[in-house]
Amino acid sequence: MSAADLRALAVEIAREAGELARRRRAEGVSIAASKSSLADIVTEADREVEALIRARLAAERPDDGFLGEESGADDGTTGITWVVDPIDGTVNYASGIPLYAVSIAAVQGRDPDHWTALAGVVHSPVVDETFAVARGEGAFLGSARLQVSEPGAAGALLATGFGYDPATHAGDLAAVGRVMPIARDLRRGGSAATDLAYVAAGRLDGYFERGLQPWDFAAGALLVQEAGGVFVRPESAEVVRRLCLAGGPELVAELQRRVLDAP
Ligand code: IPD
Repeated sequence: MSAADLRALAVEIAREAGELARRRRAEGVSIAASKSSLADIVTEADREVEALIRARLAAERPDDGFLGEESGADDGTTGITWVVDPIDGTVNYASGIPLYAVSIAAVQGRDPDHWTALAGVVHSPVVDETFAVARGEGAFLGSARLQVSEPGAAGALLATGFGYDPATHAGDLAAVGRVMPIARDLRRGGSAATDLAYVAAGRLDGYFERGLQPWDFAAGALLVQEAGGVFVRPESAEVVRRLCLAGGPELVAELQRRVLDAP
């Protein structure tokens, strides 16, 4: 299957999954459990949507691997793994804030530091926007080809996120303080996959966040790269809460310096 075929399959399944998420949200949401902290929740809908995606992929691509936020990992035999966040932005979803997305990527390899992302999709069901990408073929929103933006004279429009562990908030806020001098403004949308899609679309100039999981960034990182930007996770002492940065190359270098290198 070509990267374009993988993308087509990801788009078809993400749109189906998004429709299920939207329907379940309209019916009312129940929190199924807390995960790493009380703030880190999973809803019944997260599980149901991931089950739908997993079943659809198993039917279409039975020999591929799977890595999902809610249902874990399965090794395949083809070398391709599907990396899935069924509802990225679960806290928004549970709170009735319509900013959440289905994120699906097909990658070659298992280790996020070394895999090659082949195709991906970030689908926002409420606004019905589907950001789709295939390696070497560009990133698209519908038929519009995406291109990352450069900050204007007023500074960079940035987004970030904060992890669920309250102990890390002070450090993250200190980093925000070091970044604000180059920012036009800062958004904290609550869906990393959407933030990355918006960087690819040039809606945001840049994005940074510590501690993302592979399913949060697998599709969004390829969107940014195919839109002419960079996505990096520099090695640092913070092994667990690795920093992710996305945007144009110059902005990413400057953000990295301010977030990581500053005292
Ligand atoms: C979360 C969102 C959030 C980001 C967190 C992620 P989830 O994903 O992307 O914006 O700040 O780091 O864990 O838990 O809603 O799938």
